[in-house]
Amino acid sequence: MTDSLEEREARLKAIAEEIARCDKCPLHRARTHTVPGSGPANAEIMFIGEAPGFHEDQQGEPFVGASGKYLDQLLAGIGLSRRDVFITNVVKCRPPGNRDPLRPELEACEDYLNRQIAIINPKIIITLGRFSMARYFPNGRITRIHGQPKRKDGRIYYPMFHPAAVLRNPRLRPEMEADMKRALALIQEAQSEDIPDDEPPEPEPPVQMSLF
Ligand code: URA
Ligand code: SF4
Repeated sequence: MTDSLEEREARLKAIAEEIARCDKCPLHRARTHTVPGSGPANAEIMFIGEAPGFHEDQQGEPFVGASGKYLDQLLAGIGLSRRDVFITNVVKCRPPGNRDPLRPELEACEDYLNRQIAIINPKIIITLGRFSMARYFPNGRITRIHGQPKRKDGRIYYPMFHPAAVLRNPRLRPEMEADMKRALALIQEAQSEDIPDDEPPEPEPPVQMSLF
């Protein structure tokens, strides 16, 4: 049984308040604001990025800098806006100088994200970049597996490039835009039907050893 929207909003707010007080990893020291994430508590679509950058740390909101502008354009391209999606990150405080989050920081922070996902219970989780991808595709290489969905436990997981990586390397734009178009089809799939797990890959036929 799912809680009412109001209960889910209250539980997300309680998590955001915990995050605002959190000192479980060294990233708490240099932050201006924590960035717990934002969007509807019953969003069917959830985006998970990496970590707050300069502007996110200033404003306490995810994806409000250049990457966020590009994400907004990509969403608009498939007829969606921020109001339709929940957006958050694997770490909720800005790493100094926008460096990559470190493993102990990811581990210290992951409980918040796990709890947010449990409350929101999205039908599709779209990962942006390597760090959120690694939660669901631990051995995946982003250049190889971006744009390839995995259906598991009634949910679709869909890895995409990080918008910042595409801004740094504009040659990735056509692939990013194609991946976003495919996301629309997956969103429609996720909204319209139960999601069976992907079939395991066909086993290789046994090699017939010829003795003669
Ligand atoms: N990049 C991210 O991964 N997250 C943000 O919130 C902003 C930029
Ligand atoms: Fe706490 Fe996460 Fe911020 Fe680290 S990054 S201080 S674990 S909220």
